[in-house]
Amino acid sequence: MNVVTTIKQVREQVKVWRQAGYSIGLVPTMGFLHEGHQSLMAAAKKDNQKVIVTIFVNPIQFGPSEDLDSYPRDLERDKVACEQMGVDLIFHPTASEMYMPNFSSYVDVNNLTDALCGKRRPGHFKGVCTVVTKLFNITQPDRAYFGQKDAQQLAVIKRMVSDLNFDIDIIGCPIVREADGLAKSSRNSYLSESERKAAVCLYQAIECAKEMIKQGEKSVTVIKKAMDDVISNQPLAKIDYIEFVDLASLASINMLAKDSLCALAVYIGKTRLIDNFIYQQQ
Ligand code: PAF
Repeated sequence: MNVVTTIKQVREQVKVWRQAGYSIGLVPTMGFLHEGHQSLMAAAKKDNQKVIVTIFVNPIQFGPSEDLDSYPRDLERDKVACEQMGVDLIFHPTASEMYMPNFSSYVDVNNLTDALCGKRRPGHFKGVCTVVTKLFNITQPDRAYFGQKDAQQLAVIKRMVSDLNFDIDIIGCPIVREADGLAKSSRNSYLSESERKAAVCLYQAIECAKEMIKQGEKSVTVIKKAMDDVISNQPLAKIDYIEFVDLASLASINMLAKDSLCALAVYIGKTRLIDNFIYQQQ
């Protein structure tokens, strides 16, 4: 496995692989890798002859009061996680390699970014789309892999790829969970022991909603109220949002319909966690 830090090094390697006719799968990450990332690598490995993992804590997707400085980083551990999965190349650039001092071009997807996390984190998806576009241009993949846990990110990237005619298949991969149901996230490392126990309330709220839906409930107001009750029962939790939206347009819905997304963001202490589920039946 090769670990490189410059765009030139990636381009050189990609050129060799392209000349040999290899397909390339890309897994973009911000590092501090866990089993969720490894499931993306496994999918990329299955579909492609070569797999590139990028590890870059992208400064332009963090708001001024967000956790850019404290975001967990451990390159040595990440290298082991990638090696285990048979990754061929890690691209780990510095911020100055990615953003020259006169950097002034951004990719902004409208409408889909108005709701959910986009509403609460202004500029976040503009930063994500810009870095993902750059990573696509640098690594020239056939396929790129993203977790369903960041459901809005996945929808926004799919739209960007379609709108801007990138010749890349975007593959969404299922949420990977801890034994008690908490969705794997690099930010789980911020949680104290008591917060970690409390964090399971996101999954409990999801399970409660799924059970109500199984019993025939379709009213979003009713389901949201029950989810709110589950989370509010947990003193360390503070709801940022619980929303039901159409999976494609991310527009808010009042009644459950085919292809609905339920997404939630909850503060556990100071740590903001997200989770979601998709409802696909009629
Ligand atoms: O999901 C992430 O880790 C990041 O948003 C991504 C896609 C790597 C862009 O920085």
